[in-house]
Amino acid sequence: MKVTVVGAGAVGATCADNIARKELVEELVLVDIKEGFAEGKALDIMQTASLLGFDTRVIGSTNDYSKTANSDVCVITSGIPRKPGMTREELIGTNAKIVEGVAKSLLEYSPNAIIVVISNPMDTMTYLTLKATGLPKNRIIGMGGILDSARFKCYLQAALDCSPNDLHGVVIGGHGDTTMIPLTRLATLNGTPVSNFLSAEQLKQISADTMVGGATLTKLLGTSAWYAPGAAGAALVESIIRNEKKVFPCCVSLEGEYGQNDICLGVPVVVGRNGWEKIIDYKLNAEEQELFNKSAEAVRNMNQVLDTLVA
Ligand code: LAC
Repeated sequence: MKVTVVGAGAVGATCADNIARKELVEELVLVDIKEGFAEGKALDIMQTASLLGFDTRVIGSTNDYSKTANSDVCVITSGIPRKPGMTREELIGTNAKIVEGVAKSLLEYSPNAIIVVISNPMDTMTYLTLKATGLPKNRIIGMGGILDSARFKCYLQAALDCSPNDLHGVVIGGHGDTTMIPLTRLATLNGTPVSNFLSAEQLKQISADTMVGGATLTKLLGTSAWYAPGAAGAALVESIIRNEKKVFPCCVSLEGEYGQNDICLGVPVVVGRNGWEKIIDYKLNAEEQELFNKSAEAVRNMNQVLDTLVA
């Protein structure tokens, strides 16, 4: 099997590093537009192979997509990252052109690939990729909810002082500071609702911290985060390559599910060899559904900006 990661910046390189360590594929290609950059990152990762014990061949390429030919999964991380104080949405103008071009170049050489979109604003970039490529909807997956859920579980873990591996917690909706929806009602510690251990006030704080999880890091780091985004991207690739059928919240095309149409938004899906295979209905209560509808409205407004860019 073969995976391509486009964008050898911090998120792309960390994602590639995680995929190599997990030894998911025989060949991993890292692509970047900056001369020699992907080759350098690939060589650096390759030099950890004998230390970490993996057998994946990691290859770098400066914008030569012929090297990516016949990839099973392609991950797009290209584009500019957030600076402190910036929202993900402010990146749209620059990143839309980049993402569309990258998706088309990838499909020229890997017409059967499943495309994972990480570039921001991720929900809109996923929608753009779906529209621009005309691929079947199950082959386009936006990665945001897995990352947001990992952050949710990180804050829950700190409040509960428990093992993060005993937690289940899901964030649906958009991958934006005001559009994501941590489902506190459904979060559990070893199958028991976390509300048995945490007050409503604590859960509200955890929810708020989760929603600005990315912005908090951007402020601390001066640019957007990479360890968790890269690991989340690799977890998604793993479920596809190994046909794990894990349920992850991912940004996918909705056709009436969760009451929405003509939009890509984060909902729980089963992820396997065919990409996202089905949407799981979490049966939201009225309050959650209202938040989901609001999230959809904000993402839909952002998607409309695409028309003005293309024109
Ligand atoms: C974040 C970026 C990658 O949430 O969207 O850190």
